[in-house]
Amino acid sequence: MILDGKRISEERLAKLKEEIRNSGLFPSLATVIVGDDPASRMYVRMKHRACEAAGIRSVGVELPSSASTKDVLGSIENLNSDPGVNGILVQLPLPSHIDTPRIVESVDPRKDVDGFHPYNMGCLFLGTPVFSPCTPAGIMTLLSAYGVEPGGMHAVVLGRSIEVGRPMAALLLNAHATVTICHSRTRDLPSITQKADILVVAVGKPKFIGPQMVREGAIVVDVGTNRVEGILCGDVDFERVRDVAGAITPVPGGVGPMTIATLMENTFLAARIQACTDAR
Ligand SMILES: NC(=O)c1ccc[n+]([C@@H]2O[C@H](COP(=O)([O-])OP(=O)(O)OC[C@H]3O[C@@H](n4cnc5c(N)ncnc54)[C@H](OP(=O)(O)O)[C@@H]3O)[C@@H](O)[C@H]2O)c1
Repeated sequence: MILDGKRISEERLAKLKEEIRNSGLFPSLATVIVGDDPASRMYVRMKHRACEAAGIRSVGVELPSSASTKDVLGSIENLNSDPGVNGILVQLPLPSHIDTPRIVESVDPRKDVDGFHPYNMGCLFLGTPVFSPCTPAGIMTLLSAYGVEPGGMHAVVLGRSIEVGRPMAALLLNAHATVTICHSRTRDLPSITQKADILVVAVGKPKFIGPQMVREGAIVVDVGTNRVEGILCGDVDFERVRDVAGAITPVPGGVGPMTIATLMENTFLAARIQACTDAR
């Protein structure tokens, strides 16, 4: 079975558009980009396009690559105090001279639609998430759309990044899976991946997972987005692993579209939370 993230994300966005129309709210998302990295610019463009499709107002703050940590903090402070902005997304990675953790911590947790603020990460790990990071949350939505119930399953998460691996493990644990996290120091990786009922791969290495690393019938989620000779491919050798897996996400058309749909859902959630708390 192919887990079709493109189709599910389109369905979610159509539903969200309807909900926003009926809500009487006018959610808005501000993106902050520093420098002119082409991939980052493309991701920000895609997010603005998704906003338009969902009926979310979007504004873009663009800073030159020479901007300092203080400059970025100033922009975020303005967005934090702007009642017309519900969600703030700082496009990562930031240039290396910028203090990324400080920037992430400066976003008002109520507007932190990326879910990277330590407050929101803490809530997620306590089992009471508010804003969960969009990629892993989108994966949970995709699994749920296909009737996958992680409770009791052995989930193996390959990668321990703040954006994907760690929050993915927390979400699966919250959904009552038994979770193993693997990384570059893990010994005898195949012996662990072969035991996975759900295998989430986020290593950033093209076709890193071959069929010999996957248990027959496993659910394989490929987060990787790698370019090989200009062609997008995942961390999983899709053509060979699909014969072994029970279900698998394609790249493109799997996790990527779910990430963007979740960002839109988080922005609407932020607008609803702010409407409730501001009314008090
Ligand atoms: N589709 C989407 O929406 C989306 C969103 C975010 C990211 N991505 C993609 O997902 C991939 C991963 O992203 P990321 O931000 O999580 O990457 P990252 O920060 O580079 O983390 C990679 C992780 O993989 C681990 N790793 C590297 N080599 C390994 C090996 N040989 N064996 C076992 N583990 C290994 C690393 O271990 P250590 O911690 O020990 O170094 C690290 O934890 C990238 O291709 C990225 O472009 C896609």
